[in-house]
Parts: sequence; C-alpha cells; structure tokens
Amino acid sequence: MATKILIIGACGQIGTELTLALRAKHGNENVIAGDIREGGEELMKSGPFEQVDATNYKAIEDIVMHYEVDHIYLMAAMLSATAEKFPMRGWNLNMDSLFNVLNLAKDKKISKIFWPSSIAVFGPTTPKNDTPQTTVMEPTTVYGISKQTGERWCEYYHQKYGVDVRSIRYPGLISYKTLPGGGTTDYAVEIFHEALEKQEYTSFLSETTALPMMFMDDAIRATISLMEAPNENLTVRSSYNLGGISFTPKQLAESIKTEIPSFSINYEPDFRQPIADSWPSSINDEQAQKDWDWKHEYDLPKMTKAMLNGLESLK
Ligand SMILES: NC(=O)c1ccc[n+]([C@@H]2O[C@H](COP(=O)([O-])OP(=O)(O)OC[C@H]3O[C@@H](n4cnc5c(N)ncnc54)[C@H](O)[C@@H]3O)[C@@H](O)[C@H]2O)c1
Repeated sequence: MATKILIIGACGQIGTELTLALRAKHGNENVIAGDIREGGEELMKSGPFEQVDATNYKAIEDIVMHYEVDHIYLMAAMLSATAEKFPMRGWNLNMDSLFNVLNLAKDKKISKIFWPSSIAVFGPTTPKNDTPQTTVMEPTTVYGISKQTGERWCEYYHQKYGVDVRSIRYPGLISYKTLPGGGTTDYAVEIFHEALEKQEYTSFLSETTALPMMFMDDAIRATISLMEAPNENLTVRSSYNLGGISFTPKQLAESIKTEIPSFSINYEPDFRQPIADSWPSSINDEQAQKDWDWKHEYDLPKMTKAMLNGLESLK
C-alpha cells in the first residue's frame, strides 16, 4: 500500500516545492495538496488539491478519512513579520493548526507528522554564534513564541501519547519557484528578483546583519530525510537545529556582483531589523548530522548561481 500524504499549506514557499518533491517520490495521486487558496499551475495540475482551513479540525479529518491519509506535513502558519502586525491571528493559526494535527495522530487517524519550527525560537539571550541544539530560548516575537510553544507540545505528545512527530528549525529559506510569505529573511529572495530586473536592491536589513540561511533544495532534502529516518535514531522530538549557510546582506550582494557586476545595494532597515537582531547568526546542527546523517550541499556561491539560473529559466 502506498503511503498517502497530505500537505497543509501546500501552496506556500516551502509547501509548493515539498509537494512536487513528494509527488515525484510517492506518485502524484498519493500526495494531496491542501491550502486555503489555490497555488501555482504545476502544483494544481500535477495531483489532487483540497481547499482546507488548517484551523478546522473536522475539515482536515474529512480529508484524512476520504483519502486514507497516513502522513501530514503542516506547512500553514503566519510568518514572523506578518505575525508582529496581527499577533492574535498569528498565535491562533499557528497553535490551532498544530493541535488539530497532533490530535489526529493521538487518535491514531494518521501515523506521522512533519511540523516546521524556526530559528525564531531563539532570542536575544541565546548564544548568537554556532547556536547549540539545547540552549537559552527566550523568543521576543509572536511567531517565535508560537514556534517555541509548538516545540514543547510536539515533545509532550511524543512522550505522553507516542505521537511520531518530527520537526526542523528551518533557517531563512531561499527559493525561486514561489515568493516568500512575510518573513524576516525575505530580503534574501527579493534581492535576486531585483538584481535581475533593476540591477539594484534596497535591503530592509542592515549590511552587517548575519542570519542563518539555506537554499530550498537543501531544506526539502532535509525534510524528506528526517521523515524517512528510522524512529529509533531520533533523539530530538522538539525540533532539530539545521545550519546551512550564514551571511549578511553585504556578503550576499557581493556574491551576486560576481555574477552581475553592475549590481548595487542600499540599506534602509525597517521594523524587521529588531526581529533579525534577536535571532542567531549561525546554527550548530551536529545533532541532525549524528541522528540522520544531515549535511547541507549549497554554499553561498553555489546558491547564488542556482537562484539566478533558476529565475532566468522561469522567464
Ligand atoms: N520560509 C522560511 O524561510 C521559513 C523559515 C522557518 C520556518 N518556516 C516555516 O515553514 C512553514 C511554511 O512556511 P512558508 O515559508 O512556506 O510559508 P508561506 O507563507 O509561504 O506559506 C504558508 C501557506 O499556508 C497557507 N495558509 C495560511 N493560512 C492557512 C489556513 N488557515 N489553512 C490552510 N492553509 C493556510 C497559505 O495560503 C500559504 O500557502 C511555516 O510553518 C513557517 O513558519 C519557514
């Protein structure tokens, strides 16, 4: 019997590429894309789509029963920058959707969950460089508080109810197929679009703001590897640190300049600067390396080339 997978929030930046990767692996008809809105053409045409609100338990349960879903990837969330504008909406969406999926697993209606956390679980009192897996966590954003709380509940459901939930603290993700959805690291995607269109970019983060980042191909590979890892190898049921690359807007601009020499950058930090300042600059992911053989492939020059080539190929 094929594994049936439901992705909730499938039309977003990560969900789109994750859905296509899982369809290629498990067969188009076995991977159901769920979202409150329709997505891109490739996603909509390549397999089943269901309109679903992640905060509606009954609606998710109906899809699970109808398709006999085994695994859920919950990608619907309100991201860091947007949640600062709508704190209660962000909190309600991020928490209600997680409880819905955890409870479906607790009631044995599904057997495995992937739920993403974020580097936003860390805060200004966390060691900034090479941030360890286990450390001080005092997030100062609504988004970070919701992710940290979510991690605690994931571990609780695993320990108390045996729920097989797996999670990664994604760094800022860089991709060309879908635009980002309101995060603090969005600049690192926008910059490529504007480098190709206008040869210039105004960054909303300062030139010295180093943040952990990762190219989408690495993030998708990490997600699928973690979901396929043997249960007994996993020692972390809150969420795994994932490193990737660390760079500042200035370093990214210099990397783009090696490909587009006429490119120039300006800096006008806005309300997202304090959010970025509260997060780590680089992440230690030794535990993920040890437990499920994690290793990222894309460094800054390789990611820069892949982004520019990818965007050119979409023209
Ligand atoms: N993109 C990043 O850099 C990054 C970094 C760290 C963690 N994450 C986490 O990864 C997950 C996916 O992020 P993303 O960047 O793809 O986000 P996104 O905003 O691009 O996509 C989220 C998707 O969820 C959908 N959605 C929103 N509310 C919904 C609801 N009530 N019911 C159903 N669908 C709903 C949206 O329509 C959208 O398609 C989130 O949990 C996010 O916190 C992302």
